[in-house]
Amino acid sequence: DAPEDLEPRAPIVTVMGHVDHGKTSLLDHIREENVIAGESGGITQHIGAYGVTLQDGQKIAFLDTPGHEAFTAMRARGAQVTDIAIIVVAADDDIMPQTKEAISHAQAAGVPIVFAINKIDRPTANPEKIKEGLAAMNLLVEDWGGKIQSHDISAKTGEGVKELLEKVLLEAELLELKANPNRLASGTVVEAFLDKGRGYVSTVLVQTGTLEIGDYVLAGTCSGKIKAMQDERGNNIKKAGPATPISILGLDGAPQAGDKFSVLDDEREAKQIATKR
Ligand code: GTP
Ligand code: NA
Ligand code: MG
Repeated sequence: DAPEDLEPRAPIVTVMGHVDHGKTSLLDHIREENVIAGESGGITQHIGAYGVTLQDGQKIAFLDTPGHEAFTAMRARGAQVTDIAIIVVAADDDIMPQTKEAISHAQAAGVPIVFAINKIDRPTANPEKIKEGLAAMNLLVEDWGGKIQSHDISAKTGEGVKELLEKVLLEAELLELKANPNRLASGTVVEAFLDKGRGYVSTVLVQTGTLEIGDYVLAGTCSGKIKAMQDERGNNIKKAGPATPISILGLDGAPQAGDKFSVLDDEREAKQIATKR
């Protein structure tokens, strides 16, 4: 893309951390707080990607990742598609194996980290102990005189979440994120499954270009024409620009999480490529 084709885009933020440290709870809280009044209900679907519009109109695309040790590959892929990593650490626990692993993935991908020291509502929470542990790993957070952003939060009560998001947006500003919305879309598959009523449903993250109904998509070994697109609340939408997570219907199978997808302008070409894979 030529520089003049690039337009500012929302940050893509991946939430990582050890199992049960509160990643999904944090995202649930953010979504509940930022549901736009009057937005049609729809059934909230449990998918690993959410687009959130904050009260001031700023948008963030969030990716959730599982903390279970079996999901190393997903954390690695999450770190690769992301602009910023929120690493959640439960303040009533320690810096655990998947915390360390998430840190390594973010560092390997060159992605800035914002620590969310979670569960501070718990009586046994000790956020200072966590920060001390980070310092011992050569990760100095701001209130320990370092440069890494960190905020104490409770995903349960919501304490500190607003401030955490402000820090995330500050990091995003420094990155000056841009993409070209005026081209055929491409991006990454977040997850895909077979739904009894709807057929194959793939949640994808558009990274560049704009995805539209009727586009012919190639994703891993799957392909198909987009019949419908839905946001995470089940609302039907027609177009999805850069940094938008979206569920698409119309693929002939379920691509793998982490597969790249792209829109081809010729349906026959897309089918040939898909069968060769
Ligand atoms: P995995 O996806 O399985 O790795 O877990 P997760 O990191 O998404 O954790 P999840 O949000 O599922 O929370 C795990 C448990 O911790 C749940 O019982 C939550 O209710 C609880 N929890 C999460 N955040 C907080 C918090 O801030 N305070 C308290 N008291 N409990 C919390
Ligand atoms: Na959990
Ligand atoms: Mg979770």
